[in-house]
Amino acid sequence: MSKATMRAVGVIPSKKEICLVEHAAPQIAGAYDIKVKSLDVGICGTDKEICAFFYGSPPHGSEYLVLGHESLGQVVEVGSGVSVFQPGDLVVPSVRRPCPHHHCLPCQRGFQDFCFTGDFTERGIKMTHGFMTDYYVEEEQYLTLVPPELRDVGVLVEPLTVAEKGLAQVWQIQERLPWAAPEGAEGGRGAGRRAVVLGAGPVGILGAMALLANGFETYVYSRSKAPNAKSELVDSIGAKYLSSLTTSVEELAERIGAIDLVYEAMGVARVAFDVLRVLGTNGIFVFTGIPIPNPPIGIDADNIMRNVVLKNQAVVGTVNADRPAFQAAIRDLGTFLYRWPEALHALITGRHRIDSYKDVLLGDKTGIKNVIAFD
Ligand SMILES: NC(=O)c1ccc[n+]([C@@H]2O[C@H](COP(=O)([O-])OP(=O)(O)OC[C@H]3O[C@@H](n4cnc5c(N)ncnc54)[C@H](OP(=O)(O)O)[C@@H]3O)[C@@H](O)[C@H]2O)c1
Ligand SMILES: [Zn+2]
Ligand SMILES: [Zn+2]
Repeated sequence: MSKATMRAVGVIPSKKEICLVEHAAPQIAGAYDIKVKSLDVGICGTDKEICAFFYGSPPHGSEYLVLGHESLGQVVEVGSGVSVFQPGDLVVPSVRRPCPHHHCLPCQRGFQDFCFTGDFTERGIKMTHGFMTDYYVEEEQYLTLVPPELRDVGVLVEPLTVAEKGLAQVWQIQERLPWAAPEGAEGGRGAGRRAVVLGAGPVGILGAMALLANGFETYVYSRSKAPNAKSELVDSIGAKYLSSLTTSVEELAERIGAIDLVYEAMGVARVAFDVLRVLGTNGIFVFTGIPIPNPPIGIDADNIMRNVVLKNQAVVGTVNADRPAFQAAIRDLGTFLYRWPEALHALITGRHRIDSYKDVLLGDKTGIKNVIAFD
């Protein structure tokens, strides 16, 4: 391989191929560019769905898309205008980049996670190369500094931002309940409240950690029967794992009592709408899961609608994350590392070399979070 190229995992949608490509080595071009060496790149369902060709599109003029949107990297070179970062710093990049339209105020103001034109790009997903490669260049504004003590777990920042943005929405919406615990309240803003997380994948477990850290009594409702590695991890942090195979939604509701918050991280509509039926009074339901296309299902719509109205419920969806969510994720990951060091490390169940990309992306590797390690 020549010096001007490097290894990257590429997806070629037109040929339905996934392969190692010789990707042009990136160079700093602008004053605010930063060259980053990849350390860890996490793999999630989105990558697997791109590899199944459900979505994922290469940049204009490229046959392939470089995969990877969950990155922890190290700065190796900075442009002349960069003031915040220096070589050696650990960084995490965000994923979504703004659309070009001047009338899209969210994008103009740095809130591309709320872009309404749909013409945004996403690194490793939509029309911009990702981070599953030795080096990448990124603008300073899209990177967030990670403290060195998070070196081993920093790759979890991006999946944790899902919960951080979700929780930010929860706090904003629940300002309609002025008697509830305010920011900075003893025991956390969730103290005395009950939360249910749907799904015990990385998004769900990191969400459960965030809810516990905010003082919620937290339950995780997922599929596999307990005991299993995920249920043990969930129970070890002080949440309670319940399997949908052994506990019905009615039993779940009876066991918990009034459910103040549901954080959905499962991507299964049938289960989600079943649980929406038992959301408590003044409760909030946060959808994060992205279901793969399935035939339509029947839901208890009259009952759900009646509850949403008569119980003042709020239902909100959330996608992607803004800078404050990245900052909150980095701060909270430090808290998790202090409170649950073993559990946090146990979330990363496999570190693999780039040559194993096919096994990791297409094989039946189990575990919670698999990572491609570059150093
Ligand atoms: N909104 C966003 O910005 C955003 C960002 C990233 C991901 N997501 C979405 O978040 C969701 C979770 O992501 P993830 O990476 O944590 O996924 P994951 O690793 O696939 O985990 C999904 C979890 O849901 C459980 N589950 C699946 N089907 C079930 C069923 N029928 N009944 C009960 N439980 C079931 C699984 O149980 P088992 O453990 O038994 O398999 C697993 O624990 C996905 O839908 C993903 O697309 C959204
Ligand atoms: Zn992901
Ligand atoms: Zn936009």
